[in-house]
Amino acid sequence: MKKFLAGLLGTALIFSFSNAVPKNQKEIEKQILKIAKKYGCLTCHDIDKPKNSIPYRIIAKEYQGQPDAVKKLVQSIKGASFAKWQKIGPEKYGVKPMAIYMPRQRSIPVEEAEKIVKLILSLDTSKVKVKK
Ligand code: HEC
Repeated sequence: MKKFLAGLLGTALIFSFSNAVPKNQKEIEKQILKIAKKYGCLTCHDIDKPKNSIPYRIIAKEYQGQPDAVKKLVQSIKGASFAKWQKIGPEKYGVKPMAIYMPRQRSIPVEEAEKIVKLILSLDTSKVKVKK
């Protein structure tokens, strides 16, 4: 019984401390929207719809596989981002160019920015078409 309880407690601890990204895509999207809503990101972003800026799934497609993607994107969120997407050219993903400047997001703590970036990078992008 003691062993069982210790095991249970261990599992609970692992779950509460791990910042693990869920495997389920619906759950990933749910968590992205929850954070984005809390910090006002939805004014300009959506997962799939172009709003004032690039949809998160397109951002994921561009940065997935880049080793320093998390660091770069957290910097863009916390430090502002200017005209990066003008250079990337969202047209290759079938998205029209939009606003070119994201002011630095003061309200979101760094840990939360890191969390949403990891979630964004875990979006399934297998259906995003890239024009050559
Ligand atoms: C006022 C509109 C606005 C708000 C609010 C906003 N963004 Fe952005 N976001 C933009 C624009 C515009 C860009 C494209 C900037 C560029 O091209 O450099 C962008 C780019 C990004 C990128 C890609 C940066 C890169 O380096 O390619 C990420 C990630 C991102 N936003 C996440 C967020 C998150 C998370 C929030 C909420 C905490 C947020 N944004 C709030 C307008 C906004």
